[in-house]
Amino acid sequence: MIVLGIESSCDETSASLVQDGEIVLSNVIYSQLIHQQYGGVVPELAARDHLNRVSQVAEEALTKAGVDQGRLDLIAVTNQPGLAGALLVGFSYARGLALSLGKPLVPVNHVAGHIYTAFLSRPDLKLPLVALAVSGGHTSLFYMDRDQKISLLGQTLDDAAGEAFDKSAKMMGLGYPGGPLIERQAAANKIKPVKFPRALLGQDSLDFSFSGLKTAVLNHLQSRGKGDISDEELSSICAGFQEAVFEVLIEKLRRASILTKCNTLMVGGGVAANGALRDKLQSFAEQEKKTMIMPGRELCTDNAAMIACGGYHLYRNSPDKQFEYKVSARAVWPRYQTS
Ligand code: KG4
Ligand code: ZN
Repeated sequence: MIVLGIESSCDETSASLVQDGEIVLSNVIYSQLIHQQYGGVVPELAARDHLNRVSQVAEEALTKAGVDQGRLDLIAVTNQPGLAGALLVGFSYARGLALSLGKPLVPVNHVAGHIYTAFLSRPDLKLPLVALAVSGGHTSLFYMDRDQKISLLGQTLDDAAGEAFDKSAKMMGLGYPGGPLIERQAAANKIKPVKFPRALLGQDSLDFSFSGLKTAVLNHLQSRGKGDISDEELSSICAGFQEAVFEVLIEKLRRASILTKCNTLMVGGGVAANGALRDKLQSFAEQEKKTMIMPGRELCTDNAAMIACGGYHLYRNSPDKQFEYKVSARAVWPRYQTS
């Protein structure tokens, strides 16, 4: 079964062909650069840039995979959550293509897509699974049961971890996106990392909070005064910031694994591309004898292979295979919102 996936929820326009939910035939990702000058994603500019690129990116994905449109079995598209305008561009393109080819259109939740990368990384994956989706828009812990039913265990009460990376990098004048820039700066650290607070939110909580950490970074910068911070010191702030984020992420994974009695864990989303986090996750898994699935870096940040893989599984698991073309895109994800 060959699935074309389309992703346009934020600032990556991506199209991918995935065979049988596990073999990535192509995964074309166009990252919008226009936002760098604004220090964050500008929704209208994102939507316009998706419109300029989406058909070209999809054609490139087909060409790279050597697959003709007529051979597609299914089209999968991100329909939520994300920037409304950006989502609508990819969704409209995918719906038009599906209608013209007479193929089913399967809407895929973007955050669930990050979890489905576990199947791309481990085709022999045995469920259940505890999954941490940690990106610019989300920091959530999920449980995927044997039937691939996903339930929310915990989520951030304020900023997402990637958002804290982006905003802290902006405060330090490092640029956007902040994750890779903070990672690079932290890797050069030679002195004691600055100690920042960890918000564990009580003994049993599986929720997250990163806004306090962001404020702590701001307070630290202000206490040092403008223009006084050396490169060496900046590295120690970045290293301390990363340690504070990663310690919380790993502690919550540990708690979720105990609560669910599940020893297979996965981490997806842009922050999971961080090398220092990957090293810590690996050590944690070895120490605690867990199976830790970490998709390759290109599958961590936004991509359409995860959407194609999700579409394949949703279609296969659907008893009646009835997917409505009239389903639309939406910015929020009501199903997993906690009251
Ligand atoms: O999954 P993603 O591409 O988009 C969303 O769904 O949000 O994640 C983007 C986020 C950004 O906040 C970015 O700064 C962060 O992931 N990120 C990283 C790294 N690469 C990307 N954070 C830490 N270290 C990285 N190497
Ligand atoms: Zn994402």
